[in-house]
Amino acid sequence: MIDLQRIQRIVKEEMSDLEGTARSYDHVDRVLKIATYLAEKENADLEIVQMGSLLHDIGRTIGEPHAEKGVEPARRILTEVDILREEMNKILRIVEYHDVKGREKLETLEGKVVWDADKIDLIGLTGVSRTFHISGETNTPFNDAVKWCIYRSMHQPYEFFTETAQEIAERRYAVMKHFALTLKNELSLTDIK
Ligand SMILES: [Fe+2]
Ligand SMILES: [Fe+2]
Repeated sequence: MIDLQRIQRIVKEEMSDLEGTARSYDHVDRVLKIATYLAEKENADLEIVQMGSLLHDIGRTIGEPHAEKGVEPARRILTEVDILREEMNKILRIVEYHDVKGREKLETLEGKVVWDADKIDLIGLTGVSRTFHISGETNTPFNDAVKWCIYRSMHQPYEFFTETAQEIAERRYAVMKHFALTLKNELSLTDIK
């Protein structure tokens, strides 16, 4: 049994500089909870999924490409707990391939569950809020942020692996579409009469 709470404390501490940003530990915590739910529904190995979720964005503390850069700190953190080499390798592959371009390289159900959970947190109004927050952080002009957000909201940006994630995504995509149409109406003032 791996000491999950110990890893959780280490990750939280190491990501503390990102607090208040759209890429803080709060996102990791939501991914952990979403992935736990998906793992139970999809019969994935809970321990691997939870460790992969906690460590998936640890590379954010270094820079981009954060998925690849996260492998070494994840390995360092995992050596602090009692873990089999085979399990460690599974978790490191989850970290390495959790972003959009790693999608096709994922081989385990656990990797797919974490990938799905991470992307669920990037859609719905959570995703919209994060997009606007990141736009503010990067000084993106408001109109560009709106355009990007409407585009993403209308185009269902991710294809999910698991059926459980697909069901959640359908609800969140519907909310995004409604948001985009409403925002368009308001900004063009077609809603005022
Ligand atoms: Fe990430
Ligand atoms: Fe993430």
